Amino acid sequence: MLGRGCKNFSAMRIVKSIAAMQKLAQRWQVKNTCIGFVPTMGYLHAGHLSLVKRARQLVGRRGKVIVSIYVNPTQFGPKEDLGRYPRDLTRDKQLCRTEGVDVVFVPDDKLMYPQGDHKVFSTCVIEEALSRGMEGASRPTHFRGVTTVVAKLLNIVQPEIAVFGAKDFQQATVIQRMVRDLNFRVKIIVAPTYRESDGLAMSSRNNFLSADERRQATILWRAIRQARQTVRTGTVSSERLKAELRHTIASQPAARLDYVEFFDPDTLVPVKKVTRGSHIALAVFFGKTRLIDNGRL
Ligand code: PAF
Repeated sequence: MLGRGCKNFSAMRIVKSIAAMQKLAQRWQVKNTCIGFVPTMGYLHAGHLSLVKRARQLVGRRGKVIVSIYVNPTQFGPKEDLGRYPRDLTRDKQLCRTEGVDVVFVPDDKLMYPQGDHKVFSTCVIEEALSRGMEGASRPTHFRGVTTVVAKLLNIVQPEIAVFGAKDFQQATVIQRMVRDLNFRVKIIVAPTYRESDGLAMSSRNNFLSADERRQATILWRAIRQARQTVRTGTVSSERLKAELRHTIASQPAARLDYVEFFDPDTLVPVKKVTRGSHIALAVFFGKTRLIDNGRL
């Protein structure tokens, strides 16, 4: 018998096979059980857990929350950090259990992309408009990998609701478009970016930073706040504001700006005049570690 306020977490299942996951999802669908889904690449932090909490809030106590943990190789470029991407499945499972997750779905590469063989696997999902700029320009094959794996995961888990973080704002927008264009029966929820107390957006990649880089990494958040402050006094040209922010980022010796962009948050089209309601996104390297952040102005 559990005390008041205690939850029974013992029932969390670890599912490794696609067939078993689909069977379980179908069983729940037949019983009209609402499924909330949080896709992740693992190495979970408080930001992921805030997505899990949101999913639980949405499906309720009687619904089921499924978290997938899969480091998807197809969304990494050949020179990117797939090989060193942090992993700790034991800790991830423990965090999910504590959070009251019902199922952790942990497929492997052989299941997701049979034998990595293009004769066996030769289909992908490409969003052609929203994914071109910013992350898409810097990481040309990234969104193709993301949309393909998310489409696969949605087909496997068959959730009513899927929760994504606003830290990957362009990713969330691309996925919303994919879901709309391809008529997936899922509602995409975008939950707020979860930040450290000094403003740094939580990310598994923060673990790669040295102590000194970690201190300097708050520059992303400071740049967003600076842009917010500037547009508060009126409309400003995008080129001028970019120049100011380039200067701000350069004040940190370890920081190397990849891009900073101002755009319409619905269409992701860059704006020439930045006003309140415009959106900013930026990517900054610290050594080999690339961090992204964004915010509404
Ligand atoms: O945001 C992520 O962690 C990944 O891009 C996702 C959505 C899990 C797909 O691999």
